[in-house]
Amino acid sequence: MKLCIIGSGYVGLVSGACFAEVGHEVICVDNNQAKIDMLLKGKIPIYEPGLEELIHKNVAAKRLHFTTSTEEGVDKSDVVFIAVPTPPQPDGSVDLSYIEKVAREIAVVLKAGTYRVIVDKSTVPVRTGEKVAETIRRYNKTGAEFDVVSNPEFLREGCAVSDLMNPDRIVVGGNSEKAVALMQKVYEPFMAPVLVTDINSAELIKHAANSFLALKISYINAVAQICEASGADVEKVAAGIGSDKRIGRNFLNAGIGYGGSCFPKDIAAFIAISDELGVPFTLLKEVEKINEAQRERFLTKIRSALWVLQEKKVAVWGLTFKPDTDDVRSSVAIDVVRALVAEGADVTVYDPKGMEKATEYKLIEGAKLANSALEAAQGAEALIIATEWKDFAAVDLEDLKKVMHTPLIFDGRNLLNPETVRSAGLTYTSIGRA
Ligand code: UGA
Repeated sequence: MKLCIIGSGYVGLVSGACFAEVGHEVICVDNNQAKIDMLLKGKIPIYEPGLEELIHKNVAAKRLHFTTSTEEGVDKSDVVFIAVPTPPQPDGSVDLSYIEKVAREIAVVLKAGTYRVIVDKSTVPVRTGEKVAETIRRYNKTGAEFDVVSNPEFLREGCAVSDLMNPDRIVVGGNSEKAVALMQKVYEPFMAPVLVTDINSAELIKHAANSFLALKISYINAVAQICEASGADVEKVAAGIGSDKRIGRNFLNAGIGYGGSCFPKDIAAFIAISDELGVPFTLLKEVEKINEAQRERFLTKIRSALWVLQEKKVAVWGLTFKPDTDDVRSSVAIDVVRALVAEGADVTVYDPKGMEKATEYKLIEGAKLANSALEAAQGAEALIIATEWKDFAAVDLEDLKKVMHTPLIFDGRNLLNPETVRSAGLTYTSIGRA
């Protein structure tokens, strides 16, 4: 099929590459000329395992194209996906101006006698589809036929390509049989169950799914606090409750809280839309509170062990909001670095992929950069693990002990095994474990 994806950010680019990989012909559109130039030169603006190879392969096969022209994309495609950012506003509600602008841009290039399916893939509050349809109807003067569909995306950064190629389910929310049938054809090669709903339900599924996952994380973090107070071990508790199939072990990893460009924003947006609809989702406010408290409790542990942070040499491993990505947006690791720098600590950081973006966006001003995990720990009076990169677990503990001034480890992601660390002679503090 011929597909167009408007917005070549995380979701747009990965979806475009995967659609091309299964045989569709895809045009990725972005209004950022520099980004399109970069893609045309074969350079990929984000780091995501497997993405670069996939893009190169499908560009070479002439199934994946890039342009800044919405008109070209819409003209040449049967289905047009909208995958533009939906950033948060100060009150937590979603800024839908990019969506609205793209809806108008599509409306003015739709030609008489044509039919297009316009698919919203961006994460949006319930009832956005209705507004997109209304906008296109208002701005299109040709009487072109179209249907609006909601098709939320569930990919995780760091494993986006494999999530997209092997989805648990595809959600298609549409009010027209013709549009839904075309969407089923788009997804046929993925061989995953397609759940067909109305547009509002599909939009709600996305916010409800992300909120539920965040709830699981805050739940286990709250349990971790009780473990610390009572001498229990949160890893064992998580294994015990997670082996009940009704609960599941995934997303029960205690730590310094969730971050990234999705959970914090989506939970705030779900709260905002529930308030707007007159049915406040107060449980989610508690989820947010626990998440923030988790980071503060961790910083308190560091402060009380080091007594005074001023001039203390502190190493931080990890800047990205999770491993296997270079994304540092709303990263708890960055919050930790900034708090330590603000309190006068002499901070050195290392991250396998996140240092470039953290520096570019001026997120870690005042911190020094190291070329390796061990180099960051050189002479440190404390080491903080803020992101669970596998490379950090592989560092030789004897070597680590040798290079540190005082071997105090604060593991905010429960990456290391307490017994192994302690038997190597290091002092170890983690989350929810005695
Ligand atoms: C999340 C969802 O998992 C995806 O399904 C969704 O499509 C995506 O948001 C989105 O809305 O686009 P992502 O933000 O890439 O994906 O990352 P996650 O793997 O969900 O992790 C989010 C945060 O939760 C990270 O900071 C991670 O460290 C933290 N986390 C995750 C925990 O603290 N504990 C866990 O057990 C799992």
